[in-house]
Amino acid sequence: MTGIAFLLNGTPVRVTGTAPTRTLLDWLREERGLCGTKEGCNEGDCGACTVMVTDAAGSRALNACILFLPQLHGKAVRTVEGLSGPKGEMHPVQEAMVTHHGAQCGFCTPGFVVSMAVAQMNGRRDHDDVLAGNLCRCTGYAPIIRAAEAAATAPVPDWMESDRRFILAQIPTSDGPTKTGASGTGAGGSGGTAVPPAVPDAAFRPTNSDDLADWYLAHPDATLIAGATDVGLWVTKQLRDLAPVAFLNGVTDLQQIERQGGMLHIGAAVTIAALRTAVQDRLPSFAELLRRYASEQVRNAATIGGNIANGSPIGDGPPALIALGATLHLRRGDELRSIPLDSFFLDYRKQDRRPGEFVAGVSFPEQAPGLRCYKLSKRFDQDISAVCGCFNLTLDAGRITAARIAFGGMAGIPKRATHVEQALIGEPWSEATITKALPAFAQDFTPLSDMRASATYRLETAANMLRRYFHDLNGTPVSVLEVAP
Ligand SMILES: Cc1cc2nc3c(=O)[nH]c(=O)nc-3n(C[C@H](O)[C@H](O)[C@H](O)COP(=O)(O)OP(=O)(O)OC[C@H]3O[C@@H](n4cnc5c(N)ncnc54)[C@H](O)[C@@H]3O)c2cc1C
Ligand code: FES
Ligand code: FES
Repeated sequence: MTGIAFLLNGTPVRVTGTAPTRTLLDWLREERGLCGTKEGCNEGDCGACTVMVTDAAGSRALNACILFLPQLHGKAVRTVEGLSGPKGEMHPVQEAMVTHHGAQCGFCTPGFVVSMAVAQMNGRRDHDDVLAGNLCRCTGYAPIIRAAEAAATAPVPDWMESDRRFILAQIPTSDGPTKTGASGTGAGGSGGTAVPPAVPDAAFRPTNSDDLADWYLAHPDATLIAGATDVGLWVTKQLRDLAPVAFLNGVTDLQQIERQGGMLHIGAAVTIAALRTAVQDRLPSFAELLRRYASEQVRNAATIGGNIANGSPIGDGPPALIALGATLHLRRGDELRSIPLDSFFLDYRKQDRRPGEFVAGVSFPEQAPGLRCYKLSKRFDQDISAVCGCFNLTLDAGRITAARIAFGGMAGIPKRATHVEQALIGEPWSEATITKALPAFAQDFTPLSDMRASATYRLETAANMLRRYFHDLNGTPVSVLEVAP
């Protein structure tokens, strides 16, 4: 056991003897007395716990409440306490929040200023998107956005740059028991090399998929943890003990994005944020769907492999990928297999995945001019889909020659609308064809009523999405953000 080593507000720390599913939020507040990072929802929804995490890939905002300590190994963490300068100088976003009256009760403010500081550092100007995962009950967003805009042009303070220069070798081999508050004594305390191997306590943290494959085959009952945006809630809300666990965020070969022969190959550990960037130019409708996937903080952690593997019927990735005709790559030991993604989902929360087998990646065409994705949720931002419909038709000389249509929220699994597809293929591209195909939705789906939507609403709205698709492909603006006469 060598502990978990990272930089905290510019100071190297090492944590030993702590449970692998201890959250950063709990540790900061309970062991470090860093209570500026707030606990609001403890499930990734409110952003009160936002921290900045920096590594070779850059700086990003993450929710500390669903971030386990081993996920931070080798990285730099900055909390709200670490935003001001060495002489107490305010960070430009803090100054702007004061000037623009961006805080009333102040409970949400630490999370907001950390998100704003990350955006300022990364030169982001899309403040509405960046701050969609930070909720404020009392100030109202206008003053906060005005503060973010004002701070955007200020230079990044020198002291914020140090995290980027951080290297793991800066971390000493021992952090001392008072810092960790833990009962165990890590092997790191015994001196020796300054660069610890990446093996946090009681958790396996492989650095390549060969090691992961061997270990998972030997521990098929273990829990794999990628971004922890689902698994985190099993701990914080269901109080589950997940051991043994393996953390995937150090497996670099699962984080690759490759383009080859017109296909995009996405490793399972690629985050939703990185996927969104990869599909931005050639699959803009998919990218727009991903913009509405949770929040900035969740997208920075959540992976596409986790989104597929958890088999949620309301996940946003699978419908789009199924409409694209994606192929899923699975690995068990040395054995690799590839299957059509739609055949992976067998029944509610039951997937075609054998013990010891993990999702290695997914491949799909890098462009699809006919692809359109529509997400229907109660809120525009930061909400799970009630219905997510993805359409991908091919037209030739005014006829529909191929169709792939997939939905989330309409069945116990992400599912293709095969009867609707058959009703469309070979028919002329016309409103009459669309109208004729609509009853086929009732053959494809028997949706449930739940807190997100009633069965009737779901069926009706899915059919309306096909109408919307028709108008969309014909050039009529259909975005809910555009008001058409
Ligand atoms: C506030 C909030 C908002 C959300 N909003 C959305 C939303 O709008 N749309 C949406 O689709 N989802 C949403 N989610 C759900 C979640 O973000 C996604 O399901 C996410 O993609 C899961 O990925 P992860 O890397 O965090 O998975 P984890 O939580 O790490 O794991 C999820 C499951 O997948 C398994 N797993 C992970 N990686 C692999 C692998 N490579 N092979 C095999 N098994 C694996 C884990 O063992 C676990 O069973 C939201 C979650 C939160 C907390
Ligand atoms: S406490 Fe709400 S997102 Fe973490
Ligand atoms: S200032 Fe009170 S919640 Fe935002």
